[in-house]
Amino acid sequence: MNSSNRDQPFDTVVRDARIATAADLFTADIGILDGAIVALGNGLADGRETIDARGRFVTPGGVDGHVHLDQPTSDGSKMADDFETGTRSAACGGTTTVIPFALQFKGHGVRAAVEDYHMRAADKAAIDYAFHLIVSDPSHAVVSEELPKLIAEGYTSIKVYMTYDDMKLDDRQIIDVLACARIHGAMTMIHAENSDCIGWLTERLLAAGLSAPKYHGASRPMLVEREATHRAIALSELAEVPILIVHVSGREAIEQIHWARGRGLPVFAETCPQYLFLSEEDLALDGFAGAKCICSPPPRDKANQQAVWTGLQNGMFTIVSSDHAPFNYDGPDGKMLHGPGSSFHQVPNGIPGIETRMPLLFSEGVLGGRIDINRFVQLTSTNAAKLYGLYPRKGTIAIGSDADLVIWDTGVARTIRNADLHHAADYTPYEGHEVRAWPSVTMSRGVTVWSEGAFRGRAGHGRFLRCERPGVVTSQFKIGPATF
Ligand code: URP
Ligand code: ZN
Ligand code: ZN
Repeated sequence: MNSSNRDQPFDTVVRDARIATAADLFTADIGILDGAIVALGNGLADGRETIDARGRFVTPGGVDGHVHLDQPTSDGSKMADDFETGTRSAACGGTTTVIPFALQFKGHGVRAAVEDYHMRAADKAAIDYAFHLIVSDPSHAVVSEELPKLIAEGYTSIKVYMTYDDMKLDDRQIIDVLACARIHGAMTMIHAENSDCIGWLTERLLAAGLSAPKYHGASRPMLVEREATHRAIALSELAEVPILIVHVSGREAIEQIHWARGRGLPVFAETCPQYLFLSEEDLALDGFAGAKCICSPPPRDKANQQAVWTGLQNGMFTIVSSDHAPFNYDGPDGKMLHGPGSSFHQVPNGIPGIETRMPLLFSEGVLGGRIDINRFVQLTSTNAAKLYGLYPRKGTIAIGSDADLVIWDTGVARTIRNADLHHAADYTPYEGHEVRAWPSVTMSRGVTVWSEGAFRGRAGHGRFLRCERPGVVTSQFKIGPATF
């Protein structure tokens, strides 16, 4: 810490902040210059602007490592948020970095997806962003030429799917991607659900006339996630490379991750607010309303919710991301793409949650006494920055880090209403939930983007971030060929 820079001119000083990082909690002033944190200490000189944070928690801005913005779909549906509305919403909920997905279409290159995505983001993003690569067609050219170059250029995380017809890979293809990730030093995120089991169950449910939204859950029971999670772990063990299992929804999948860690395998895990705050009861809402909560894996029962909370407490989970995948409820290109009352298997999968992720977890997690503030910072910010090669530029409050900060207001209860949110989706699945924490101020590289209940940022402020090869991959193994 540096308290000797009393004469240094600061653009902004955040005074008397109760600074929480992944490890520490201390009170200090934060001196900001040219978008970076340049001093931490007591009694810093005033900046051109001084923000009084006395008595309030100040955390690193959130790093949401799993969001879908303006992502093209194959069924005619359209995501409600583009980079402008999605990143605006993120900023208003305390997130200052997002990592959406550049999706490769089968038969096309990955670079084409990256180029397309840059066009979608440029001049629109209000906060900083990087890209994960979704690989849906790992041809020889992709794994031997395209991906290695893209990884070297700063796209150091790859998502693969074990389900969804337009994106799923078979086991052999997943191993090819994992081997590439191992050799070149990338993090692989795996969507773990058994596609054939889902297809078989869906056929039987539809044949029995069971097509309401709640049968989405019955078509993707815990078993199909548990089996695929175990298989993903086995494939990563074979390829000798760390993986992240994304959007883990309940106990049986957590047990597989626990088992893998017991074998010393570097298996990381992500969960999302929908598995902490929503349940199968929300999918069973009257009429078609359950479609608002259709996402995959589906929200499960209360016992599984509790198992996910326990996983946050005991270290099983590495990150909490939103998996923001926003579709309107009303209208022809969202949840009602095939009409109100369409079958569960025709409803676009995904729910909005980019703005509510941090307040929900702060409120129920920290203020609810389930996790401490340091764990909150790990789960919402630091660990994602580390997993995806953005640390310590992002994910912490330290000298030299970007001045991405959240000053928290924890004094007032507020009820989540879609009308108060800043995404473009026409609903929130958390309508009516009460939270006791919300950002009072969000800063992105020293610029206030949210304060006094209003968005103060601008489209185009956000910058593209090249990611380093993640330390958790390169430190586990010397990158290069495996030992087989
Ligand atoms: O239902 C979900 N999770 N939709 C988003 C796509 C994905 O698999 O993450
Ligand atoms: Zn997924
Ligand atoms: Zn997702």
